[in-house]
Order: sequence, then structure tokens, then C-alpha cells
Amino acid sequence: MPAETKRKIGVAIAGCGQIARTRHAPEYQANPFAEIVGFFDMDPARAEALAAQYGGVAYDSFEALLADPRVEAVSVCTPNFLHGPHAIQALRAGKDVLCEKPMAATLEEAQRMIDAQRETGHVLMLGHNQRLVRTHIRAKELLESGAIGDILSIQTNFKHSGPESWSVERGGTWFFSKNKAAFGVLGDLGSHKFDLVRYLLGDEIQRIFATLQTLDKRDADGNLIDLDDNAICVFKMRSGIPGTMIVSWTDYGLEDNSTVVYGTKGTMKIFASELDDIVVDLRDGTSARHHVGRMSTNANQISSGIVDAFIETIQTGGTPPVTGLDGRNTLACLEAAKKSSETGTWVEVDLG
Ligand SMILES: NC(=O)c1ccc[n+]([C@@H]2O[C@H](COP(=O)([O-])OP(=O)(O)OC[C@H]3O[C@@H](n4cnc5c(N)ncnc54)[C@H](O)[C@@H]3O)[C@@H](O)[C@H]2O)c1
Repeated sequence: MPAETKRKIGVAIAGCGQIARTRHAPEYQANPFAEIVGFFDMDPARAEALAAQYGGVAYDSFEALLADPRVEAVSVCTPNFLHGPHAIQALRAGKDVLCEKPMAATLEEAQRMIDAQRETGHVLMLGHNQRLVRTHIRAKELLESGAIGDILSIQTNFKHSGPESWSVERGGTWFFSKNKAAFGVLGDLGSHKFDLVRYLLGDEIQRIFATLQTLDKRDADGNLIDLDDNAICVFKMRSGIPGTMIVSWTDYGLEDNSTVVYGTKGTMKIFASELDDIVVDLRDGTSARHHVGRMSTNANQISSGIVDAFIETIQTGGTPPVTGLDGRNTLACLEAAKKSSETGTWVEVDLG
């Protein structure tokens, strides 16, 4: 849409923790077609701090945020168990919604979000930002152009030192509470990588075998938390391509966010080297290195593009680049992995 025909969209953010501070608020501020109208957090000081920094008001309830007619769109940045209720309430109040990952605590809740989107016709976009990373977009183009031949298998990792050094609640974080997070590292980091695999291969994950463990993360009383801090997953795509995904909150070295794709002509390594974003090594001995753009780390945030894509979707009335169905099918992978770990068997993903 030409810039001169665009108007400013009034936006508000619910949940004023780390992801609102480091991504949503600065990315809305940087977008010329968005205007921050206000913030809500259960802790009023957090909403007031962001309102003071970015403009807009601090609402004293989520209902007050929704009742403000200047608010056309809402970022849901609350803990996982609130994604469904907040997103549905906002859609039914006539707002477009950008909801953080994982989509919901259960598949039933995710389906109610999709139903609310369909019934209201408003935008529902999910915060799976890895598919918007320029290097991943380039990698998909290379894969589709046959750069490594036919794809044989894929492996992907996401490992860092855990959410207690990230969340505004630090060691007492909701990320360690089963009731509030629903999943441990599987939901936090695995949701990113299952979605990335679906995106890169343009296919659904059909079956999963997984083992989830709690190795090192402890609650305030010194007991191991009752959520996974490590998850090792083996999966098969609908096409038959096999893969692995390892996610960890106990990698106390440098953050690992790498993906390797093996093909009949060679291997593609994405974010596996400090120097090159994509390395393609072919079986004929040649090699190509691509410098496209780095990935955000917890310590170094780079614009995710998720907010720009959300605002563009509202302006153009199109389909968002990460739909409710993407969020739902990624959540179905999380549920299948959890069930596999509990039963010790392969589990079919309940695809929508
Ligand atoms: N896309 C990404 O890369 C990414 C990265 C980090 C977090 N996230 C997601 O963003 C969401 C928020 O995570 P975070 O890292 O900002 O967590 P955080 O702990 O830093 O902040 C959570 C905030 O939510 C507030 N809150 C809790 N209950 C509330 C309620 N009932 N109403 C309003 N506010 C409430 C808390 O007071 C806190 O300010 C999570 O779903 C998380 O999975 C996404």
C-alpha cells in the first residue's frame, strides 16, 4: 500500500515485561504508521514506566484498555496462560491482536482464539518471529532454489541460560510456574523452532518422539521446578523428512540458535558460525557464505519485524505472515512432544 494512503493505527500493549520493553514498545515507536495509545500491566508501575518512556496512558485494567476507542490494535505480552483470554477478549472488543508465543496453554483455547478471529474478522497474528528473520527468509529461498538438492534431514537448536535472567520477575518468574507457563523450555524456545521448521520446509510436522527433563532449574525453595528445562525431540515431517530439535535453558555458554539442513548436494548451516549467517558446503568441494543479518540474542535485541508486519497486515487487510493456524499447529507439536515424553512413545501431531 502506498505510504500516502496509510493512516496511523492506535495500539496498546497488555503485559509490560521484558518482551514489551525490548521489542513491542520500541518497534511500535519506530513504525511511522503506529501510535502508542497506552499500556496495561497487573503491576501499575510497569505500565506507568512504559507510558512515561513511550507516551500514552497507563490503564488500570485490561477492560479499560479495551474500552478506549483510540485503541485499534493490542499486543498481548502477558504470561502464556493469559494469551487465550486476553486475545479473545480483545478480538471480541473489535481490536486487531498480535499475540506472543506460545499461542495458548491448550489446543482447545487456541481453537477458541481462531474461532474469535473468524467470527470477528479482525487480525490475529502470532509472535513467532523466527520466520521473519531475514537470514531465515534467505535460507528458505536457497532451499527452494535447490541450493543443497533434495532435503534429506534437518536439525535445529535453541539453547540459552534460562528465563530467570530475562523476565522482569527474575528468579521468581512465572516462566517456572506450571499454571502460568503451561510448558517449560519446550514452550518457550521449542515453539520458535517448531514454527521455524514448519516454515523452512513448507510442511507440517506429523509425528514426534521426545524426552523432557528438568536438570538444573530450581524454585525459590531450592527444589527442581516441575517444568522441563531441557527437551530433546525427534520428528518426522508429513513428507517423511526426519529432524531433531534440542532446546535448553541450561546452556550456560554462548546462546545457540542454529539450524542445519542436509541435502543430496550438500549441507546448509544457519547461524552455526560466528562469522557467517548461512554457510552452504557442497559435496563437490565448493562452499558459499551468505551475510544477511544476525539473529537477536537475549543480550542483543535486533528489530524482529513482527510489529511492522502486524501493522502492515492491518493496513492492507491481508493475511498475517504468522496466522492463528500457524500458532495452533505449532502448539500441537508442543502437546505431542509433552505427551510423547510422558508415554515413551511416538505421538501423532493433532494438526488443524
Ligand atoms: N517472541 C519472542 O521471542 C518472545 C521472547 C520472550 C518472551 N516472549 C513471550 O512474551 C510473553 C511475556 O514474556 P516476558 O518475557 O515479557 O515476561 P516477563 O516476566 O518479563 O513479563 C511479564 C509481564 O506480564 C505482567 N502480567 C502478569 N500477569 C498479568 C495480568 N493478569 N495482566 C497484565 N499483566 C500481567 C507481569 O507483571 C510482567 O510485567 C510470554 O508469553 C513469552 O513467552 C516472546
